[in-house]
Amino acid sequence: MKTLIIVAHPDLQNSRINRALAEAVSEQPNTTVHALYERYQDGRIDVAYEQGLLDRHDRIVFQYPLYWYSTPPLLKQWFDEVLAYGWAFGPGGEHLKGKEIGIAISTAGTSASYQQCGYNLFPIRDIAKPMEALANYVSAHYLPPFAIHNVNHLTDEQVAEGKAAYVRHLEDIRHVKTADLITINK
Ligand SMILES: Cc1cc2nc3c(=O)[nH]c(=O)nc-3n(C[C@H](O)[C@H](O)[C@H](O)COP(=O)(O)O)c2cc1C
Repeated sequence: MKTLIIVAHPDLQNSRINRALAEAVSEQPNTTVHALYERYQDGRIDVAYEQGLLDRHDRIVFQYPLYWYSTPPLLKQWFDEVLAYGWAFGPGGEHLKGKEIGIAISTAGTSASYQQCGYNLFPIRDIAKPMEALANYVSAHYLPPFAIHNVNHLTDEQVAEGKAAYVRHLEDIRHVKTADLITINK
């Protein structure tokens, strides 16, 4: 299983949590960390290069800080350009079919704020539903999201715990196969 972590942070060098998380996973075997804003400082995405990278990996994880309940803009542009008709969907568009797609999100909001009664109204899994729909649309398997909250107030110890939790998450998560669900219903 080869894992591609696509990190979308506009200022990774000055980031606290996303830089720490990216460092933690870069030490893992069979894992490629690809920092989008560092590679495309001019905002011009090399679509063929990105598609080649995706072809060479089985699991793709999009790691980003939550920006207005969504992704930083370069990642949105990446979706628009890289997941092209005839490549990711439509006739011949089966390059992501059967792969795993996951997300790893950092938020300033606390975990309590990402509950139905919290001031952000919705759990992260609900806020990230467009990513789940995207994975479904390209016939990939969606993994349970990883989220780290309250990032502006974490102690160094909590950041270290977050790094270890991220690595464990990537080791432990499995998508639920439709076949497994059918077995339960038998
Ligand atoms: C433009 C912008 C929008 C943001 N929107 C949200 C948001 O919707 N929800 C939230 O919890 N935090 C939001 N934040 C806070 C970031 O998620 C937080 O600063 C980031 O996760 C910190 O990660 P870092 O330490 O890697 O820089 C926003 C920050 C910026 C700059």
